[in-house]
Amino acid sequence: MEKVLITGGAGFIGSHFARRLLRCDDVTRVTVLDALTYAGSVENLGEAMLSPKLAFVAGNILDALLVERLTQEHTAVVHFAAESHVDRSFFDAGNFLSTNVLGTYTLLEAARKARIRRFVHVSTDEVYGPLATGQAIEEDPVRPSVPYAASKAASDLVALSYFQTFGVPVCVTRSSNNYGPRQHPEKIIPLFITRLLKGHELTLHGRGQHVRNWLHVEDNCRGIELVLRSGTPGEVYNIGGGTDLTSKELTGILLRLFDADWDQVRYIPDRAANDLRYAMDWSKTAALGYQPGRDLEDGLAETADWYRNNPDRWAPLLRIPAEARKPIHHPV
Ligand SMILES: NC(=O)c1ccc[n+]([C@@H]2O[C@H](COP(=O)([O-])OP(=O)(O)OC[C@H]3O[C@@H](n4cnc5c(N)ncnc54)[C@H](O)[C@@H]3O)[C@@H](O)[C@H]2O)c1
Repeated sequence: MEKVLITGGAGFIGSHFARRLLRCDDVTRVTVLDALTYAGSVENLGEAMLSPKLAFVAGNILDALLVERLTQEHTAVVHFAAESHVDRSFFDAGNFLSTNVLGTYTLLEAARKARIRRFVHVSTDEVYGPLATGQAIEEDPVRPSVPYAASKAASDLVALSYFQTFGVPVCVTRSSNNYGPRQHPEKIIPLFITRLLKGHELTLHGRGQHVRNWLHVEDNCRGIELVLRSGTPGEVYNIGGGTDLTSKELTGILLRLFDADWDQVRYIPDRAANDLRYAMDWSKTAALGYQPGRDLEDGLAETADWYRNNPDRWAPLLRIPAEARKPIHHPV
């Protein structure tokens, strides 16, 4: 393990993961490389920024010279950096392809030259596309239906090709939907929590029938660490085991948490592409010792408390309309 480079470590999941690795005695150095787009903030790292084991580098994964230098100084890479919000991919798909596909390629090239010992590429269940029934296994073909998922599926395939072609020791993790403290309020759970805190209405697409598997961010990070330590290079690992809920069921739990009722909810027409259901089998990751541990209702209550107690962290982000939150373009 020793020296780990974490890309996107100022974002939601990456910052939880960086905090986790800093607690490991066998990790001597953690470097976070993050471009600090609208989605990233060093505040997500909090007190971890004071750790003598942590270095923070503000930079772009598309900067080949920078990532070459950094990969040479590390033994492992865990790659979170991405454009991650599905809705934004409808009006800014080019940036998703640039960051998620070319950015991953740039990092893999650097890892190949540096002969990196471990490379974990963090991906999503959305690459499998919607499933009416059953569960996706790692060997299933990817069938993404929205630009975000397509950019992640493409990056997964490039990453796996670097194992096949060059022997770069890549593992890919695919997790279901994460929730927890410090997630950007554009995502549904913090969006609804912050709206409930402000007494604003919640809007549900269609009839609220879309099914997602909700996994606490710490459970995902536990799975990613296991894959980093003992995953087999060239393999994909599904990280699921959260709770399946329709968006209506999720809304019901959040309303109860805030003593609010359904009058506060308005149904709006569904968007053109909105996958009905994702589901994954995660027994391959369980064989590494993975087991999610967080109860959904407790996790949501703790998450709601974080937003209740930290309005200074999310209120400023709500004032900027999504279209104006420009990511940093940095073509190769
Ligand atoms: N959030 C989820 O539910 C979920 C589920 C499965 C997989 N994932 C994947 O996990 C990863 C992290 O997701 P998240 O929710 O933490 O995302 P996030 O949007 O909260 O964080 C992304 C981070 O990447 C940084 N970044 C973006 N472009 C960059 C670039 N070109 N160079 C360097 N840094 C850049 C941003 O500044 C930000 O800090 C992504 O790869 C995402 O696809 C997320």
